[in-house]
Order: sequence, then C-alpha cells, then structure tokens
Amino acid sequence: MTKDTPVIEIRNLHKAYGSLEVLKGVNIAAPKGHVISLIGSSGSGKSTLLRCCNLLEDSQQGDVLFKGEPLSWRGSGHNRRPSDPKQVLRIRTNLSMVFQQFNLWAHMTILQNVMEAPLTVLDRDRAEVEKSARAYLEKVGIGDKCDVYPAQLSGGQQQRAAIARALCMEPEALLFDEPTSALDPELEQEVVKVIKDLAAEGRTMMIVTHDMKLAADVSDTVVFLHQGLIEEQGAPDTLFGAPKSERLRGFLSATHAA
Ligand SMILES: Nc1ncnc2c1ncn2[C@@H]1O[C@H](COP(=O)(O)OP(=O)(O)O)[C@@H](O)[C@H]1O
Ligand SMILES: [Mg+2]
Repeated sequence: MTKDTPVIEIRNLHKAYGSLEVLKGVNIAAPKGHVISLIGSSGSGKSTLLRCCNLLEDSQQGDVLFKGEPLSWRGSGHNRRPSDPKQVLRIRTNLSMVFQQFNLWAHMTILQNVMEAPLTVLDRDRAEVEKSARAYLEKVGIGDKCDVYPAQLSGGQQQRAAIARALCMEPEALLFDEPTSALDPELEQEVVKVIKDLAAEGRTMMIVTHDMKLAADVSDTVVFLHQGLIEEQGAPDTLFGAPKSERLRGFLSATHAA
C-alpha cells in the first residue's frame, strides 16, 4: 500500500436485489483525505453503494478494497458472500456510518451510545473510551448532553451525537447517508457545520446528500449516480458549473427548482 492507495475502492461492482439490478458496474475510489459526495435521484442506488462499501450489503460481482486489500469472497453470483468474518469486521469498523435517522439507542444515554461500540466491538479500555467519547461530544458541540437520552435532544443534536459515535471508533473514513435529510432547515445547518469541520480536518468521507450546496462546499469529487451507473463525476466546480450530461443537467435544474 502506498500513500496514494485509496482508503476505500470499489471496482466494477454489481449488486441486485433478486432480479432488480441496482448497481450495474460502479467504480469509485476515495483517496485518503478526500471527500466524495454522491448525488442522484431517489432510487438511483446511492444508499446501496454506500452500504456495499462498508459491507452491510453483499454484491454479486466486482471488488471491494480497503486500503488496497481486496475483500475475500467465496461462491459466486447470488451465492457470493465474504469469506472472512474477521476481515469484514475490521473493514466495517474502519468505515463508520452515519444514517439519516441517527439510529441512536433509545435506552442508552448519549455518552453510553458513543462508548458502546468501541467497548464491545473493539474491546478498548473503558476509561480511555470515556475520555475520547466526551472529547468527541465536545467537538460536535454537545459536550453538555452526555447524560441525557436521545429523546431529550433535537434532531440536530441527535445527529451530532451519531457523528461523535462514528468518530469514537477512530475510523479510517466516515460514510454519511443523507445526514441532514431528516432535519428541519434550521437544524440542518448545525450538522452541516460539523461535516464541514471534518472535511477541513482532512477526514476521508463519502457523503450521500441531496444538499447540493453541501456537496459543492465540501467535496473534492462529486459523483452523479443514475440508474445504478456513474453518469458523470468531477470536481464540484465542473460538475455543477458545466455539467456535460443531459441527465445531470435535468437533475440539477429539478433540484434547484425544488
Ligand atoms: N433491501 C432492499 N430490497 C429490495 N430492494 C431494495 C432494497 N434496498 C433498496 N432497494 C431498491 O434498490 C434501488 C436503489 O435503492 P437505494 O440504493 O436506496 O437508492 P437511493 O439511496 O439512491 O435512493 C431502489 O429501487 C430500491 O427500491
Ligand atoms: Mg438512499
């Protein structure tokens, strides 16, 4: 692995749910420190692509590489599965995911939510995990919310807690699936700010978003997915400023009109 080896790379990935082909040969690579935004219409396969990256979904063809290391498979086609559970766990814990619906555990305090996976999955020292959990909650601006339960927080605060939880795994990359879509506009901005701060720190991130301004502001590369294929990709200035594909132009004008 060299310094240019991508943290996550997907080569010619094909993914179907039964007979529904969702990804039809997608190539994507996230170099260290890069932010990639995935945009596209609902149903174009954005979430599926992200979920294939951190192995929440199996795929039927193509490769998934983590820091140059190919995922090992057994079987083929619809019977293809990862063959090494330890490898899957190691890769997945290095690619922390943040979901649209936060997915915090309702019966745990915010601090417990952030500490849970580092303790149980990574078996780290409790005192150290608590220290870093508090620091990450401070970093996302809710250091005073350690002892409350998720239901006592606003959506924006819950999403920031979910980001602190992802960070506390000390992952190689963060994957966001529509992190601001469930939020009221005024709460959206507090989450956008945290994501911008993380981008400025040089975190490697893949972000599925419908927020074109966020994509334009934070991304090194924007990828437009259309019906399971990458229709166009490029630097945000080019992709938004001079889109080549007719479909992308249509998508952007529909988005701006909304
Ligand atoms: N678990 C699933 N089972 C069957 N079909 C699914 C499943 N998840 C997603 N799909 C279908 O796959 C397609 C792509 O979905 P998705 O990746 O969620 O798109 P996006 O995130 O771009 O809106 C859609 O047609 C969706 O209905
Ligand atoms: Mg989605």
